[in-house]
Amino acid sequence: MTAVGIDAIEIWTGNLKLDLPGTFAPEKGEDPEKYTKGLGLNASSFPDSYEDIVTMGANAAHRLMERKGLEPDDIGRIDVATESSFDNSKPVSTYVAGCLEDVYDGDFHHANKGERKFACIAGTQSLDDAYNWISAGRNRGRGALVIATDTALYARGDAGEATQGAGAIAMYIDEDPDLIELSAEQGYGSADETDFLKPNQQFPSVDGKRSVQVYLARMREALEDYESAAGDVHPEDITFAPFHTPFPGMVRKAALLAYRHVIRDTSIEDDLAGEIGRQPRPEAFDTDDDYREALREYMDELKETDRYQEWYAEMIDPTLSISREVGNWYTGSVHVARASALKSALEDGRDLTGETLLIGSYGSGAQAEIHTETVQDGWEDEIEALNVDEQLAARYDLTWADYEDVHDAHNHEMDVDVEEFTTPDEEFVFDGWGRMGERQ
Ligand code: HMG
Repeated sequence: MTAVGIDAIEIWTGNLKLDLPGTFAPEKGEDPEKYTKGLGLNASSFPDSYEDIVTMGANAAHRLMERKGLEPDDIGRIDVATESSFDNSKPVSTYVAGCLEDVYDGDFHHANKGERKFACIAGTQSLDDAYNWISAGRNRGRGALVIATDTALYARGDAGEATQGAGAIAMYIDEDPDLIELSAEQGYGSADETDFLKPNQQFPSVDGKRSVQVYLARMREALEDYESAAGDVHPEDITFAPFHTPFPGMVRKAALLAYRHVIRDTSIEDDLAGEIGRQPRPEAFDTDDDYREALREYMDELKETDRYQEWYAEMIDPTLSISREVGNWYTGSVHVARASALKSALEDGRDLTGETLLIGSYGSGAQAEIHTETVQDGWEDEIEALNVDEQLAARYDLTWADYEDVHDAHNHEMDVDVEEFTTPDEEFVFDGWGRMGERQ
């Protein structure tokens, strides 16, 4: 079967930055290390007042099309994944296509367009849809443009406020991809949950502490389901494990859970047995509470072992470098984690061709998906072409007063007019309804 996967990606960050230890922590009266060490974040990306999910998505897609020499006729499908949509009828992909049609000769009248919604996992679901469409042979030689774009803003004062972020990632899905091939196997963990939701409201209602537990529970189910389809995952067969990253501290917990799961009944568990004992098994305990307590103690010890810490440093830490500087991009977050890992390998001069990534996607509400990806031999050129470092360095550093203004400006319920902090540089800008997405 022909390989199907991601041929190219582009990342577009919101043009503003909120410094968490320097600006946010003093305003909140908190220790800066709560953010840098506890949550694992240095900064959040914010959209300037002329940016929104359409402009960020169109800018990422335009950069990708230019770099890959793509014309509208090459693209048979445009899906936008977002949980920041402003329209309950017309999909954001139609707005993005409208922007792109302004700058290309052709149009996208032939392209199937849609909007995918399932919190943050919708980006991966759109990838899956593109994979299925191409694998089924319905694409007539064309590829799919998948855009994950969000302004992940929380109400001021909400515990999630420190994890905000804004940005887009565009991905071109095609046969014989240059970047990664997607596995046919997937595993899911899915349940009706109400820990994070946005029922026709601008900012989410979140039970933050519970959302962490739900993420872990669904991820464990997805891992088990993946193994039932693809066979046991062995940690030494995986090069990086990019997870959905609402903040790096969440991935610290997910990584430990995944490691504990994949070392069961392996030589790694045998090697560690002398140091921390074997993993507790439920059948050895009278009650679930006793089992859970024993498991908690085992995990606490596991996390301190050199073996785990080395695994974490090699396989997980490199996935977090961009996220630390931008916060949660919701639907784009796991795709940013993949890009971070590949970028770090490129910087280290490693050759990853043929190696395996284990991708852990997650969306509140709630669903986790595990799949694997095989790195393709064009990956270095693709990752080298990213200008994410330059974009991050060029962001305008908000003062607290600026931050409050720009946060109000993006609150659809408030009618505020705020200055632009940065000057658009050959990019699509939101220029009012009916004229949205003009290029300046
Ligand atoms: P919080 O109350 O601000 O923080 O909320 P905390 O008190 O729990 O502290 C966070 C961590 O910092 C803790 O570490 C503290 O110990 C540590 P942990 O015990 O968890 O390992 N800490 C410090 N460390 C060093 N020095 C210090 C210090 N102080 C504290 N001085 C919470 C945290 C996650 C609840 C909040 O940020 C929140 O509500 N976030 C939004 C929801 C969220 O991101 N949930 C994640 C799972 S759900 C998900 O990923 C889906 C999502 O992306 C949406 C979607 O799918 O659409 C959100």
